[in-house]
Amino acid sequence: MKLPLNVDLQGKVAVVTGGGGVLGGYFCEALALSGAKVAVVNRTKEKAQVVADRIVEAGGDAIAIPGDVLDTASMENVRDELHKIFGTCDILINAAGGNHPNGISSQEYFRMEDLDNSEGRTTFFDLDPKGVSYVFDLNFMGTLIPSQIFGRDMVGKKDATIINISSMAAYSPLTKVPAYSAAKAAISNFTEWLAVHFSKVGIRVNAIAPGWFITEQNRKLMLNEDGSFTPRAQKVIYKSPCERFGEPEELIGPLLFLADAKASGFINGVVIPVDGGFNAYSGV
Ligand SMILES: NC(=O)c1ccc[n+]([C@@H]2O[C@H](COP(=O)([O-])OP(=O)(O)OC[C@H]3O[C@@H](n4cnc5c(N)ncnc54)[C@H](O)[C@@H]3O)[C@@H](O)[C@H]2O)c1
Repeated sequence: MKLPLNVDLQGKVAVVTGGGGVLGGYFCEALALSGAKVAVVNRTKEKAQVVADRIVEAGGDAIAIPGDVLDTASMENVRDELHKIFGTCDILINAAGGNHPNGISSQEYFRMEDLDNSEGRTTFFDLDPKGVSYVFDLNFMGTLIPSQIFGRDMVGKKDATIINISSMAAYSPLTKVPAYSAAKAAISNFTEWLAVHFSKVGIRVNAIAPGWFITEQNRKLMLNEDGSFTPRAQKVIYKSPCERFGEPEELIGPLLFLADAKASGFINGVVIPVDGGFNAYSGV
C-alpha cells in the first residue's frame, strides 16, 4: 500500500477491531506503515492472523489477537494480551461491524399484498427481533464495549484517540436494513457524546462515515455472479455524483489525519463522510 499522507505514529499502540475484515485490514496496514504497533483484533483469529502476518512480512509491528467486541470479558483478555506484548492503547479504531440476513427485510416498501405473505417474504412484520438486536448490538455495543475497555488505557495519555466507523446509513436510513441504519446513526451520535465526555481527559473521539465500498459483507447485494451491478448497486451509482464505488485506500487519508494529533488535534466529535458526494446529492 502507498500511503496518501505521511504521519508519524512511532511509539503509538493501535487497536483495530474487525482488523481481519476488508476495511479493517487496510486500516491496520496503514497504521503500521505510519509506525504504529498494531493489534489486529477479530472474532476469527485466522482472519486477524493473515493481516498481522502481512504487516510483519512488510517489516511492520503487528499481532493478531482473537476477541469478540460484544463480550466484555473477551475484550479484557485482548487488553491483557496487548499490555504484555505492546503496552497500553493510544489509538482505537472500532471497525468491527456489519449486517446479518436476520436483520434485513426482503422488501424496500410494505405494500397491501404483503399482508398475505404466502411467498415467504421477510416483511417488516416478519423481522426477527433477535436478528435485529444482533445487528444493532454488533455495530453499537461492539463500539461501546471496546471503547470502555481501551478508553481506560487512554485516560490522561498524550494524543489518545478513538475513531469509530459510521456509515451513510446514519444520515438517511437505507431500505431493507433498519437495524444497521439505526445502529450507525447511534454510532454517529455516540461519537459526539463520547467526544464531549472524554474532553477533560484528553481523548479525542471522531468517526468516519464510509460511503459505498464493495467488501465481503455487501458483495452479494451489490454484484451479480457475472460481476454486473445488481439493481441496488445501480441505485447507489445513480445517487453518487462520482458514479462509482469507493476504493478502500480512499479511507486511509481521513483515517491517518484523524489518528495523528499533530494534524487534527483540534478536531473532536466530528463524523467525516467519505462517500464521493453520495450524501450531498439529492439525486436531482
Ligand atoms: N463496506 C462498506 O461499504 C462499508 C460502508 C460503510 C461502513 N462500513 C463499516 O466498516 C466496517 C468494516 O466493514 P467491512 O466492509 O470491512 O466488513 P468486513 O465484514 O470485511 O469486516 C468486519 C470484520 O469484523 C469482524 N467481526 C464481526 N463480528 C465481530 C465481533 N463480534 N467481534 C470482533 N470482530 C467481529 C468480522 O470477522 C470481519 O473480519 C463495519 O463497521 C462496516 O459496517 C462498511
